[in-house]
Amino acid sequence: MNHEELNQLLKPKSIAVIGASATPGKIGYTVMENLKESGYKGPVYPINPTAPEILGVKCYPSVSDVPGTIDSAVMCVPVKLVNSMAEECGKKGVKGLIVITSGFSEVGRKDLEDELVAIARKYKMRVLGPNIVGTLSNSDKMNASFAPFLPLDGKATLITQSGALLIAMDAATYTRRVGFDKMVSIGNMCDVDIADIIDWLNDDEKTTCVSLYIEGLKDGRKFIKSGRTSKKPIIALKSGVSAHGAAAAASHTGSLAGAAKVYGSAFKQAGIVQASDLDNLFDRTLALSLMPPLKGENLLIITNGGGVGVLATDAAERYGIPMKFAPKDVQEELKKHMPEFGSAKNPVDMTGMAGTEWYYETVRFAIAHPWVDGLIVLYCETAMTNPLEIAKGIKKALDEAGMKDKPVTVSYVGGEKSAAAMAWLVENGIPAYGAPDLAVNAMAALREYKLLRETAKEPAFKTNEKARKTAMQVISAARADGRNALTEIEAKQVFQAYGLPVTSTELAKTEDEAVTLAKKIGFPVVMKIVSPEILHKSDAGGVKVNIKDEAAAREAFNTIMKNAKAYNADAHIHGIAVQEMAPWGTETILGSVNDPSFGPTMMFGLGGIFVEVLKDVTFRVAPVDKPQALDMFSEIRGAPILAGVRGEAPRDRNAMADTVEKYSSMIVDLEDEISESDANPVLVYEEGKGIKVVDARIILKKK
Ligand code: COA
Repeated sequence: MNHEELNQLLKPKSIAVIGASATPGKIGYTVMENLKESGYKGPVYPINPTAPEILGVKCYPSVSDVPGTIDSAVMCVPVKLVNSMAEECGKKGVKGLIVITSGFSEVGRKDLEDELVAIARKYKMRVLGPNIVGTLSNSDKMNASFAPFLPLDGKATLITQSGALLIAMDAATYTRRVGFDKMVSIGNMCDVDIADIIDWLNDDEKTTCVSLYIEGLKDGRKFIKSGRTSKKPIIALKSGVSAHGAAAAASHTGSLAGAAKVYGSAFKQAGIVQASDLDNLFDRTLALSLMPPLKGENLLIITNGGGVGVLATDAAERYGIPMKFAPKDVQEELKKHMPEFGSAKNPVDMTGMAGTEWYYETVRFAIAHPWVDGLIVLYCETAMTNPLEIAKGIKKALDEAGMKDKPVTVSYVGGEKSAAAMAWLVENGIPAYGAPDLAVNAMAALREYKLLRETAKEPAFKTNEKARKTAMQVISAARADGRNALTEIEAKQVFQAYGLPVTSTELAKTEDEAVTLAKKIGFPVVMKIVSPEILHKSDAGGVKVNIKDEAAAREAFNTIMKNAKAYNADAHIHGIAVQEMAPWGTETILGSVNDPSFGPTMMFGLGGIFVEVLKDVTFRVAPVDKPQALDMFSEIRGAPILAGVRGEAPRDRNAMADTVEKYSSMIVDLEDEISESDANPVLVYEEGKGIKVVDARIILKKK
């Protein structure tokens, strides 16, 4: 259903332009002109109350006057007219609305947008936008936008939240030689969103790669699902990653830009390759749209220059691509196509003497060899060689070898002749770049795609009814008490219900009770103040550790009580928590936030200064399974500490991963209740010796 509706919206057989104008310079004129110039084959109906014809096409005062059926209506009337026009479109039986008009949620008029969606639902119409440039498609010869022209024809499809960026990229496709079949401006996404288009493109024959420019998602989970199930590689550029940028993005599109790290993790979980900037988006799109993924880890670099070979090797290391020497038989064959002083190892340096023939021979042999999973071909322009001839040699070798499942990227360093040869290569389906590190970056994207596809799986998730019931009792009691912050004891009860290994903690109301509990738990113990008003317990002198005997326990009880009262005379004191003193281990932190785009999201990091100063933390949208948790541990800069440094035994990552999985089910189960939470510190012991959650904090959502 979704597919057919989007076909009518984005591949319409007939189009009405509402607000078409005969005045050059107006958007309603430009859209008419673009549809004509792009060669759109279906009927176009300009709608204008007074004009008899526009650009030689008969005009109608209203959609209801149009004799034929209309699939899509492009709206170019001011915002105050859009919803009444939408109503008319519904009555006429229009299937899709492409709403260029601005002035909706991006300027605080969400009400108008809600009304538009309600009208669309009533008449079963789909809406693209509002606040967009329009949509363009080479395969449909349709420029239903006010962007200047159809982009350079190619196999990628761009979906962008910034219309201005679409216009800029449209023209740049010609200078950058990166082709697109479609460009879709998605705007405020009041109805059709990025995920819908990703799903729709699964069955689009022409599109081989989806390129995204994202400012902020509304339904992050739907997006992750579409990414996971996409049949095509997706590459995303996310803007608004800096605090300042995030504010700019929010005011620009009216959508919320999330934290960079959460988006980064979500892309990973969705199997989506990332671009670091606009150049990178173009470069990676080119490779992903033309080449298959890099399936193995054996990458061979062939070059006529040692310098560019080393630069490429350096870049490979930066992207985490392991470079290996080629096996003996490969080296022996390659040696036949280079002078004595060349090198057949890897990079394969044929030296500056390499001409078309050597390039042809080495490429043809290498790409067909079973050891080689991917090939990077580098060329420095020399006086004795013809860049275009070399390009043709490379292409001929690849065609003859016929290895369509192995990727090849090329870099030429040189002048105009090299530029022309690279353009020829791209036109002939081989991604080529002006610097060796860019060819490696392109290969890295093809590798990342392959690796991400392997791990981007939906984790199994089952609600833990029993734990949820216990947790809800604790939460309801706190709410009944008028509190949004659980005490440490309550938070630990919730954690414990979900199987988190918390230090045993009990509440003492009197000095004698404290002694009894300390004896029960076993000395040494820790004692902490329990008060909803005192969250920073240490600051209030509310924590005593390493209490070794009864006398010390009595003294600690009285001192903590005195300190707490001095700190905040009005604080409600529930009592003092007496808890087991866990042996010290590697300090880590687990936590959760309710991300505005992605919902319950887990955080993991090393504790202490690692989290406070270095902010060495990583995120995953919950639920998180054990393999994903282990992946989180290897992602942080402090990963070697967990793996065991300086002769220390590795930490118990397995137990930690188990806890992450349980923690993540807790925040999914209690999504409507928990706003934020922390287990900090979580002490991790040697492999096999488990972990301990020493302190706990849960902040509830306000209800
Ligand atoms: N049915 C059809 N057409 C109607 C109409 C109706 N009921 N009522 C008015 N029109 C016509 C107008 O007469 C005019 O045609 P004309 O030139 O022949 O007079 C045409 O619709 C456009 O109306 P106008 O008032 O001239 O608006 P405009 O062209 O100045 O602006 C928008 C209209 C949609 C372009 C403008 O409101 C807007 O939103 N601009 C921002 C677009 C944008 O940047 N989008 C996001 C990109 S990222």
